[in-house]
Amino acid sequence: MAYQNAPPAKTHYVLPQDDKEFNRLDLQHEMLKIGFNGLNVCNELVNSVLTNRMGEELQVLDLGSGSGSWAIEMARQYPYVKVHGLDLKPREHEETLPSNCDFEVWDINDGLDHHYRQFDFVHCRFTETGFKDHKRAMTEIERCLKPGGLLMFIIATIPVTEERNTPYMPYMSTQTDGSWLQRAIIAQRVGIRNMGSDPYTAAQEVDTGLWKHELIEPATCGAALFTFPVGPWATSSDPAEAERLRTLGELNKRNILIVHHHWRALFDHSKRSEKEWKILIENTERELHTDEHHLSIRVRALWGRRVNTESPPSPYHAPNDNKSSFTGFRLASFYDSEEEWLRLSEEYNSRLTPEMRALMTIPNYDPLE
Ligand SMILES: C[S@@+](CC[C@H](N)C(=O)[O-])C[C@H]1O[C@@H](n2cnc3c(N)ncnc32)[C@H](O)[C@@H]1O
Repeated sequence: MAYQNAPPAKTHYVLPQDDKEFNRLDLQHEMLKIGFNGLNVCNELVNSVLTNRMGEELQVLDLGSGSGSWAIEMARQYPYVKVHGLDLKPREHEETLPSNCDFEVWDINDGLDHHYRQFDFVHCRFTETGFKDHKRAMTEIERCLKPGGLLMFIIATIPVTEERNTPYMPYMSTQTDGSWLQRAIIAQRVGIRNMGSDPYTAAQEVDTGLWKHELIEPATCGAALFTFPVGPWATSSDPAEAERLRTLGELNKRNILIVHHHWRALFDHSKRSEKEWKILIENTERELHTDEHHLSIRVRALWGRRVNTESPPSPYHAPNDNKSSFTGFRLASFYDSEEEWLRLSEEYNSRLTPEMRALMTIPNYDPLE
C-alpha cells in the first residue's frame, strides 16, 4: 500500500506504535462500535452529512488513524466517499484496501494547511495525547472542514464510579481500598505532561465543548458522555442491554489488560520507581481479574459543523433515551445544551479530590516504597 509523505517519525506521542498496540486498538474499536451502535457516535448525523449527492465529491479525514480500522470500515460503509487516514506512523495492512481509502504519514503538530477546507467529515478519536498545543491543534483540525462540514472529537479520561460523574478513588497509601487501575491511570498524567503533551488543557477544552469555537456553528454543537464499564459488572432491566453491557465490560477488561503494559514510558517520565511499576502491574491485574471495583472509563465526544454563511447547516438533536422505562447502568447520555454540558463538567471537576489532583500533577507523589 502506498503511503503519502513519510517523514521520519519525530514525536513525543506517549504510547508505543507497534503491532501489539495496533491489535489492541482493533479490539478497542470493536468495543466502541458496540457502545456507539455503529462506527460513529451520532450515526444518523454522519449519514446525513455523507448523503450521496450527485456530482459532489465527499471526503472524510481520520486524524490519528492508528490501526486504520475505522477509516477502512468507513470506506466500506460509504463506498462513494473518499476516506483519508493520517497518522505519525504507517501501518502495513495485510488486506487490500478499498480503492476509496488511503493513508498519509504526518504530524498534526506540523499544521494541516495542505488539508484546509477539503473535508465533509473530520474524525479525531483518542489522538489528543499527541498534541503539543491543544488549542492550536483544534484550530488546525477545524480548518480542514468544508463549510458545513462535521467535526467529531472523542477523548477518554480517568475512570468514574457507577454514578458516572464522580472520579473513582485511586489506591493511595492512606486509602488502601481504592483502585489500583485508577492509581495507574491518574499517576501517569505527570508522565504525559513530561513527554510534551498537556492532558489538562485537553480535558478543560472538552469541558466547554465546541459551542464557542470561532469556526463552528453553535446551533449544530452537541456532546456526549459514555461510560464503558471495566469488567462484566454493569446490568440493566432490559435483557438485551444487560447482554451488551456484559460484552462491553469483558472487551474493556481485555483491552486494559493489554494497554497497562504500554504505560511503562509514562511511569518512567512520572519519576516512579521500578519497584512501584512492578507493584502496580501486579495489583492492577489482580484487581481486573477479580472485578473487585465497579469502575467505568469516561469517554466524551464533541461535535459541531463549520459555519456556512451561504447555506447554514441544520441543528441536530441528539438521541435522548431519558424516557426509557428500563432501569440499570446507563452507557450514554447526550447533550444539546451548552449549559447542561458545562454543569456536568463542573460537577465532575468539583469531585476531584486534592489527593487525586496531587497524584496527577506531582512527580512521584505518594511513592510505594
Ligand atoms: C490511541 S491511538 C487511537 C487510534 C484511532 N484513532 C482509534 O481510535 O483507534 C492514537 C493515534 O494517534 C496518533 N497520533 C498521536 N499524535 C499524533 C500527531 N501529532 N499527529 C498524527 N497522529 C498522531 C498515534 O500515532 C496513534 O496511532
